[in-house]
Amino acid sequence: MAYNLLKGKKGIIFGALNADSIAWKVAERAYEEGAIFTLTNTSVALRMGDTAKLAEKYNTVLIEADATNVDDLENLIKKTMEVLGGKFDFILHSIGMSPNVRKDRHYSDLDYNYLEKTLDISAVSFHKVLQTARKLDAINEWGSVVALSYMAAQRTFYGYNDMADAKALLESIARSFGYIYGRERNVRVNTISQSPTMTTAGSGVKGMSRLLDFAERMSPLGNATADECADYCITLFSDLTKKVTMQNLYHDGGFSSMGMSLRALQQYEKGLDCDCGPDGTDHKYD
Ligand SMILES: NC(=O)c1ccc[n+]([C@@H]2O[C@H](COP(=O)([O-])OP(=O)(O)OC[C@H]3O[C@@H](n4cnc5c(N)ncnc54)[C@H](O)[C@@H]3O)[C@@H](O)[C@H]2O)c1
Repeated sequence: MAYNLLKGKKGIIFGALNADSIAWKVAERAYEEGAIFTLTNTSVALRMGDTAKLAEKYNTVLIEADATNVDDLENLIKKTMEVLGGKFDFILHSIGMSPNVRKDRHYSDLDYNYLEKTLDISAVSFHKVLQTARKLDAINEWGSVVALSYMAAQRTFYGYNDMADAKALLESIARSFGYIYGRERNVRVNTISQSPTMTTAGSGVKGMSRLLDFAERMSPLGNATADECADYCITLFSDLTKKVTMQNLYHDGGFSSMGMSLRALQQYEKGLDCDCGPDGTDHKYD
């Protein structure tokens, strides 16, 4: 159901790769709620993914940008202002990638060049987006900038690797920049800490299907879907959340407040019947 929550609002949506992407769902919901926006992704994503179809569906412009490249970001923001007719109101940063995860490098054997890329793509890019937007004075008063995070920023999750460090940095940037942007121009900056979600990036996480099952059993409301995440993003872009800033907001069905649930305990008890000792691999204590 649409409520016209974003009527008259304009924005930029980063990270819609295909119909599974959280950013894709946000674009769909933002359109339903009356927003206009540009879409952006990397040249590789534009070749491999379906972003062009999404742009066509919503009759909008797709602007290529690598979010780690400040020149690309300047071009993106200037073009967005041209296309949308002036300053805009919201940005979604829905970007994550770790070469260490992709190449299956263990956290105790990281490639540091890859680590720099992980941090640049998944966290520092958020600073670059905010800094570029502020320098160009591109965001209207009471605008809203949201990035997507994960609870591995606070707690250790098997297999999340250096993305945990990237998410911790991402959340810190939201606080540090949120202070400056809020004080000067009433722009709010938040992160949403989303449940595990089966997307292209999500499926790269080691043990993802078991993590999804575990989180589902632990969360009293069940895992939050990508569509539900999009709903939450819309509220943060709307005028109903004008005084929410510098927050990391859990959107996880209650998972982050749980210790142990009956449903998870019952499943764990079933597992105790098997003889599942150390598995003899190098990573038995992962
Ligand atoms: N899927 C999950 O389980 C989950 C859970 C919590 C948070 N998140 C976060 O949600 C966000 C979106 O991920 P998703 O799950 O929708 O997966 P996705 O793979 O659909 O989206 C990731 C996007 O990042 C883009 N990207 C990668 N490098 C980039 C760069 N240099 N510049 C610009 N864009 C770049 C990709 O092209 C892709 O569109 C990420 O920040 C991810 O960490 C995902």
